[in-house]
Amino acid sequence: MDAVLDSCGRRRVRALLLLHLFIVSGAAECPKPLTWQNMVLTNEALLQNNFKEGAEITYECANGYEKEEGSGTSTCTGGEWTNPDLQCKKKDCGLPRPQPHMAFIIDEGTLFGASVKVICDKGYELSGTAYKDCYASGWSGRARCDVVTCVKPNAVANGRSSWDSDKEPEYGEIIEFFCDDGHTLIGNKTIECTETGQYSSPPPECEGKRGDVDTNKDTGAMPVIVSVISTVIVVLIVLLILHHFLLKRKGSYDTGEDLKPELLQFQNL
Ligand SMILES: *[C@@H]1O[C@H](CO)[C@@H](O)[C@H](O)[C@H]1NC(C)=O
Repeated sequence: MDAVLDSCGRRRVRALLLLHLFIVSGAAECPKPLTWQNMVLTNEALLQNNFKEGAEITYECANGYEKEEGSGTSTCTGGEWTNPDLQCKKKDCGLPRPQPHMAFIIDEGTLFGASVKVICDKGYELSGTAYKDCYASGWSGRARCDVVTCVKPNAVANGRSSWDSDKEPEYGEIIEFFCDDGHTLIGNKTIECTETGQYSSPPPECEGKRGDVDTNKDTGAMPVIVSVISTVIVVLIVLLILHHFLLKRKGSYDTGEDLKPELLQFQNL
């Protein structure tokens, strides 16, 4: 019986040993490699399917990140991957490339993921994207600052302007006006194209001097009507006075007293 028990005990030990060996050999195969923040596996590591004891895989910094220090190697040791010794930091896009009349408002810095606002100088307007984002490939977006323009000044009646170009006047440009001989400039002699695309004031007008024929019938009709009415009123008043005077004379003639010296005077002549 002892011998039987002995052999039975030995069998158990062997089974335990086998089980232990199985567990150890099973543990020697590492699991799927872990994912780490800001890191990705190299292409070779992704294709590798041998995760046995001692196998090596390599991590590299993820898109938008760059290596600060370390190698990124992870080794399968005792069924587990060692921590990859790699430090990744955000890529720095740096300052966006300067462009004429453009400025950037940098509130979030210039690292991967940050965005900056694009603004234009006074008198310039933005065309394109108003924000730039720092991507792995660099700053996104395209923008331009174009100068503000004003519409070409209209021709001035009885005068001319200093603007003789086919182009539109740009922000800050000044236009001067001149009137033909015998005409007076009414308004500002110069106007400036402002940052809004509007002129600083309306263009001046050239007015003919007094006595000149007024060609504008709409504004010329009013004074004519006024003078006709006032003439009629004056004539009416004169007629009334004359009428009153004549009545008075007629009345005095009837008495025959006031007229006598005058009549005598005429008779003397
Ligand atoms: C002349 O220009 C000034 C500013 O430039 C403006 O304030 C003023 O109103 C203008 N005058 C006329 C008659 O347009």
